[in-house]
Amino acid sequence: MLNLKIIVASTRPGRQGPVIAEWVNETVKQHGGFDVEVLDLAVINLPMMDEPHHPRMQMYTQEHTKQWSKTIDHADAFIIVTPEYNHGYPAPLKNALDHLYKEWHYKPVGFVSYGGLSGGTRSVQQLIQVVTAQKMIPLVEAVNIPFFSKHITDEENFMSNDVLDKSANAMLTELARWAEALKPMRNK
Ligand SMILES: Cc1cc2nc3c(=O)[nH]c(=O)nc-3n(C[C@H](O)[C@H](O)[C@H](O)COP(=O)(O)O)c2cc1C
Repeated sequence: MLNLKIIVASTRPGRQGPVIAEWVNETVKQHGGFDVEVLDLAVINLPMMDEPHHPRMQMYTQEHTKQWSKTIDHADAFIIVTPEYNHGYPAPLKNALDHLYKEWHYKPVGFVSYGGLSGGTRSVQQLIQVVTAQKMIPLVEAVNIPFFSKHITDEENFMSNDVLDKSANAMLTELARWAEALKPMRNK
């Protein structure tokens, strides 16, 4: 089965990212077809890049990088759950992406973004530029959640709707197609 990692990009105390990621996780399970795991960057807690060599050489010196490398190497596809901070994506996500290189190659990535009116779309536009440099395939199908706080209940559950469910399922179908199609490239 395809291995899908959901990456939670925000790390600050009181963040809403995990609530949205949990909805994504449940949606993936209902969709089927993936072994899924949530990777919370707050828990993974990578320090600011502290490797002396370019990641393409995979000469990692730090235990946390070796572990991150194993985790990402194992994946066939990603979903990045990201807010928008000052019209960009959060710094811990850039740090996590930059730590590795080949481990990201030939893997599709779907985006779930959230924010105010923009629904986090400006953050996704920046991410597309970066992930293509790492030979990932960013999907056109995405889930963008404007005024996301309206979807979060007092009990911190995410309330979806038809539009969001349809967008998520369309993204997952496409993610599976790309992940399958890119298998020969990943195996080289
Ligand atoms: C540093 C910072 C910058 C923000 N900038 C934006 C922004 O540019 N656009 C936007 O829609 N929301 C912005 N917000 C509001 C976020 O959408 C909101 O705080 C959201 O909960 C952030 O995601 P998180 O809770 O997972 O950290 C910003 C929030 C923070 C903390």
